[in-house]
Amino acid sequence: MRRLVCPGSFDPVTNGHLDIIGRAASLADEVVVAVALNLSKTALFTIEERVDMLRQVTKPLENVRVERFDGLVVDFCRQNEISAIAKGLRAVSDFDYEMQMAQMNYSQAGVETLFMTTNPLYAFLSSSLVKEFAKYGGDVSGLVPEPVLGLLTARLAGS
Ligand code: PNS
Repeated sequence: MRRLVCPGSFDPVTNGHLDIIGRAASLADEVVVAVALNLSKTALFTIEERVDMLRQVTKPLENVRVERFDGLVVDFCRQNEISAIAKGLRAVSDFDYEMQMAQMNYSQAGVETLFMTTNPLYAFLSSSLVKEFAKYGGDVSGLVPEPVLGLLTARLAGS
């Protein structure tokens, strides 16, 4: 079975993430979306909320499942018999760090990384920008899936 992983913080999942997950799903027998438990940055949503949102919005994709992970993504790959990581590259600014991680993951664990160029519609999009824009009253509908929009609005309003 050809299995890919899409790892990330997903705080929250955006339409850009969903685009990459869907395209990865068309290349593989199964895609595992791996949601990082421990983030270097403070999360707006708990790990349970991030996993729930992803399960909701990936429901139509039959060969996608969503799991949480803690520690190294390559260990998650080994435990789940995953041979490659699928990631989206938005701009040159993503490249340096992603390249370093990909080379580290390959050299230390033999796990490949497949990069997909982000859909130009979402090339500027990040969870951080969505949160900042929404926090100050900006309209982020069209940037995040519908169920996420409601949760984001509620969370930023203080619930
Ligand atoms: O959505 P993000 O924040 O860009 O996701 C980053 C993530 C979680 C994919 C990345 O930090 C990661 O893989 N973390 C797990 C720890 C790890 O394996 N680091 C790679 C060292 S080469």
